[in-house]
Amino acid sequence: MPSYAVIGASRGIGLEYVRQLASRSDMVVFAVVRNPEGSTHLNAVAASFKNIHIILEDVVDYNSLESLANDMRCDTGSSEASFRDHRRKLDYLIHNAASTNVSTVYKGFDDYANMDELDAEFISAAYKINSLGPIHAITAFLPLLRASDTKKIVVIGSGAADPKSTQVRRLVAYSMTKAAALIAATKFAVKLQDEGFVVVTICPGMVDCSATAGADTEGCRKCEVVAASLKEMSSSMKSQTGIEVTPQTPEASVAAQLKVIDGLEASHNGLFLQHTGGEYRPRN
Ligand SMILES: NC(=O)c1ccc[n+]([C@@H]2O[C@H](COP(=O)([O-])OP(=O)(O)OC[C@H]3O[C@@H](n4cnc5c(N)ncnc54)[C@H](OP(=O)(O)O)[C@@H]3O)[C@@H](O)[C@H]2O)c1
Repeated sequence: MPSYAVIGASRGIGLEYVRQLASRSDMVVFAVVRNPEGSTHLNAVAASFKNIHIILEDVVDYNSLESLANDMRCDTGSSEASFRDHRRKLDYLIHNAASTNVSTVYKGFDDYANMDELDAEFISAAYKINSLGPIHAITAFLPLLRASDTKKIVVIGSGAADPKSTQVRRLVAYSMTKAAALIAATKFAVKLQDEGFVVVTICPGMVDCSATAGADTEGCRKCEVVAASLKEMSSSMKSQTGIEVTPQTPEASVAAQLKVIDGLEASHNGLFLQHTGGEYRPRN
């Protein structure tokens, strides 16, 4: 019974990973989220499956992630035999969490009030979550991953990390910190190669996750803001780079990504892959 941990599983692409993996027979899925009660879309999905285990964790907090992984190894909590078996090892780690807050993610250098504000947003939000987050999660779960024969680590990347694809004025903190995450995944691939690990970054393509963006205090306005921002981003990409991208559904993107993950081999170690397979190329 293969086990997967999806880090950042409350909504969007991570939620869809949980849904599609849980739908497969004989899978155990650990859905790691920083706010289990507030993860309404995930709770609704989990209500229909017995093989989803929701776990509270914030990728910024390494010490807490490490204790979580230790507890999972100690096999102290669940009465379910299948869960107990999988608490001693983990087959696949899918690191999906990222800082995607629409009020900050699309900013260009000129959109910060001053350099203090730029420094704060780059470091506290973007770098800690997008760049250090995967390092924290991979390091914390490594003992569990080492205990499995599968040894697969997937970091969800972005075309924004690629210099040729990111030639738009905005998304500065996001692009720079996703580029750092891409390098981190490469470094882990090199470090873990001799142990038989396959560590890859997968670009999901442009995905419309507005449907699960959640509600804010003004009802479903956040969904509308996410949808409008994505549309605006697509049109500024077209005008500034000539690249035309039609956003896909989370269902389509994750189904394609899972095919890539199912087919991972030693020769893929260290690569930046497209959700459709093959190495990432600009303009996909
Ligand atoms: N959508 C796209 O077009 C697109 C394109 C390229 C790459 N990507 C990449 O795909 C991944 C998912 O993106 P998405 O569009 O699905 O984003 P999303 O809908 O905004 O979801 C982001 C997820 O990350 C979680 N998260 C954020 N900070 C976290 C933290 N500190 N600890 C734990 N979880 C945290 C969020 O949890 P909360 O609910 O608690 O905030 C949420 O589950 C990201 O890595 C993103 O860079 C997306």
